[in-house]
Amino acid sequence: MALTIKDKKLPHDFYPGAMGAGITLGEFAGAAASENIPGIISTAGIDRFVSRELGKKVNTYDAVVYEVTKAKQISNNGPVGVNIMTFLQQDREVAAQAAVDAGADFIISGAGLPMYLPGVKNLGDTALIPIVSSLKALELICSKWEKWHHYRPDAVVVAGPKCGGHNGHKISEIDSPEHQLEVIFPPIKDFAQKHGDFPVIVAGGIFDRKDIQRFINLGADGVQMGTRFLGTNENKASAKFKQVLVDCREDDIIMVEQSPCQFPLRILKQSPRYQSFLKGSAPPVCDKKYLLQKDKDGNSTICLAKNMPEKYFCLCAGLLGAAEYSDEEEVFIVGSNAHRIKQIVSIKELIDELKGITL
Ligand SMILES: Cc1cc2nc3c(=O)[nH]c(=O)nc-3n(C[C@H](O)[C@H](O)[C@H](O)COP(=O)(O)O)c2cc1C
Repeated sequence: MALTIKDKKLPHDFYPGAMGAGITLGEFAGAAASENIPGIISTAGIDRFVSRELGKKVNTYDAVVYEVTKAKQISNNGPVGVNIMTFLQQDREVAAQAAVDAGADFIISGAGLPMYLPGVKNLGDTALIPIVSSLKALELICSKWEKWHHYRPDAVVVAGPKCGGHNGHKISEIDSPEHQLEVIFPPIKDFAQKHGDFPVIVAGGIFDRKDIQRFINLGADGVQMGTRFLGTNENKASAKFKQVLVDCREDDIIMVEQSPCQFPLRILKQSPRYQSFLKGSAPPVCDKKYLLQKDKDGNSTICLAKNMPEKYFCLCAGLLGAAEYSDEEEVFIVGSNAHRIKQIVSIKELIDELKGITL
């Protein structure tokens, strides 16, 4: 089945969601886009990854342009997007502008309400896609985007409680029937139909073609998947992370509240940094400064992991370790289906399977 977003006709109804930090960059996005599936680059820590690759200090703007251009070149101008986490990317406006200037087809932005997004200049063909976990969040986004910029989302991603990574649902809601994706997305589809009929994409716990089809039959226009694509060769999760993923069991997958982003986070409980945190033996590193909260003067100076090391673990270091950026203790982020990954495959093999070719 096809998916059309802002006049871009995509032949398939699924694509890999971004995985930060550094797991889905230009190479991965280019590999997906070569199969005519949107390849989404995570901008989390992107300046650091590109600086290392190029051997010189590169800022967020240039790093985003570099990775988008790389993905476009690899895929011969296939569909390429970027993902910006609102609360986690202090220079989110810069990242968004770079994506537009580099000719990205999509900007997908969640982890907070992406009110900044339609403020980008010379938008052109780039589609703006918020990620929401509730109808209320979408209503708020639509009303502000409309009022400030006369802009409506070009599509929306509805993130359910089974999603990999940070979660917009409270821990108490994760297993409750009324918060499941099947229940939260139909009213959002209804709303989207009444406000410009933009596509509704669903995410969280979707594993195979049968799952994709089930959501399409329920009225979704497309599906975003994370964990399945974590199990592919082309992404930059470390070899150790991929091995732990293949070996993990269902009861290894836990939700934790100690992420300094203050959203619940789904991880593997054997994550070394989490284990050291529990033992009190992992003092926060706090030299990356990606996850800073505002102080009373409005400046981003406060790192919760540094201020309250007994309450929050050091996530920046944990994510860079998991992406083989450094040898720091890792945090292994996964979705609720991680235990079902039995082998690491090529992105093409996975895409063929999800298209239904090798079922
Ligand atoms: C390792 C990992 C990192 C992720 N990083 C991001 C991210 O940087 N930004 C984002 O919006 N979502 C992120 N996600 C969420 C995925 O893009 C996707 O929406 C989610 O994993 C879908 O759920 P699933 O894993 O059950 O398929 C991440 C997920 C995983 C597993």
